[in-house]
Amino acid sequence: MELKAPRGTFDILPKAAKKRWFIEEIASRIFEEYGYKRIITPIFEHTELFTRAIGEATDIVQKEMYTFYDKTKRSLTLRPEATAPVVRAYIEHNLKQQPQPVKLYYIGPMFRYERPQAGRYREFWQLGVEVMGGLNPAIDAEVILLMEQYLRKLNLKNLEIIVNSMGCSTCRPLFTSKLKDYLLQNTEKLCSDCQKRANINPLRIFDCKKEGCKTQLELAPKISEYWCNTCREHFDKVQNFLRKVGIEFIVDTSLVRGFDYYTRTTFEIRSRLLGAQNALGGGGRYDQLVEEYGGPPTPAVGFAIGIERLLLASEKEGISLPEYSPLHVYIAIVDQNIGIEAFKLLYDFHRAGIGADMNYSEKNLKGQLKLANKMSVAYTVIIGPDELEAKKCQLKYMKSGEQQEVRISEVVSKVKSLLEL
Ligand code: HAM
Repeated sequence: MELKAPRGTFDILPKAAKKRWFIEEIASRIFEEYGYKRIITPIFEHTELFTRAIGEATDIVQKEMYTFYDKTKRSLTLRPEATAPVVRAYIEHNLKQQPQPVKLYYIGPMFRYERPQAGRYREFWQLGVEVMGGLNPAIDAEVILLMEQYLRKLNLKNLEIIVNSMGCSTCRPLFTSKLKDYLLQNTEKLCSDCQKRANINPLRIFDCKKEGCKTQLELAPKISEYWCNTCREHFDKVQNFLRKVGIEFIVDTSLVRGFDYYTRTTFEIRSRLLGAQNALGGGGRYDQLVEEYGGPPTPAVGFAIGIERLLLASEKEGISLPEYSPLHVYIAIVDQNIGIEAFKLLYDFHRAGIGADMNYSEKNLKGQLKLANKMSVAYTVIIGPDELEAKKCQLKYMKSGEQQEVRISEVVSKVKSLLEL
């Protein structure tokens, strides 16, 4: 057996995990500031949840789901996305009873069987929001603004926001049938997958990356020619809200996105510095989905951002993400006999709420100081036999290298005041 993580998956080692901690912390903070509450749903769900919501003809359902049968022959699927699970939870727990809209956010791993490449993995992490129970176009603008604000908080600059409206159940069928007619007239110019899509679900042709199919779409009917008045007005209002707060965006009527559940507003935020996988995040409205699952009429809108793509974009922009570390003190001991006193001191630091670690190895003092440096602690407490005898220790300031003798009984409060805790 090859001792290697499966293709398209990766380990997140401590240094990388610290960067992610920052990304997740800033996300949770800004989401909470906008009134969103965290929701955690299972990693796997009944397969039907996804096939119904995402759509039978989509690439995700056709090719990318990790589906398996459990021991009682139930078909289950590792979640490829979190919108459908959040909708399920909203209905199951009757969240319609709460004041609407209900604003939720999530952070967690998703699974898609895709061909791995830079920015595309089989297990990847998303952070996202869903606003359930609101039709006001200001909510569409809020989630786009929230996505933009969050990325700006991470200092990302080379961003592009693309918006579109997918129409609704009143106007979209006419567009889809016109598109179908057009595609069937040009069927020989389409790839074999798209020839099938043209019959089953013509909108899915927008997901095709093949040049021939993309060229055909340039001349195809545009959704904007078919928007009903309500959809047009809704989209105008979304754009007005965005303009009012100074958000720049591009309207692109080919932004269809790979899910069948979208209605009206769809959007994507892209990094100009990334290659093929340049979408940092995307989302849209899904006003019918709750009802399609048998829930009460509940218009909704949300987005998800890919954490690995955020990391790639930050790297490309030369942003160094701060590494979170609440470890402030390292206790170095000159010989192992001092271990018990050091252990007591370690406990005193922790009881005072100060992050601390100590030497548990046979390393000499030089080695311990090197380690403390590597850990980037602010202070090292050094205890040797003479100091112990005098109930004192050396407090070393790692930045300047200066050190000072302090009574062991006072070192915790001394560090506490230095750290301004
Ligand atoms: P999505 O566009 O499929 O939307 O995914 C959102 C983001 O997840 C992408 O922009 C990308 O950054 C990241 N992502 C997707 N697939 C991969 C992958 N294989 N490897 C790495 N990153 C990936 C959704 O998932 C919708 N549920 C968003 C939404 C929420 N719509 C409404 N509410």
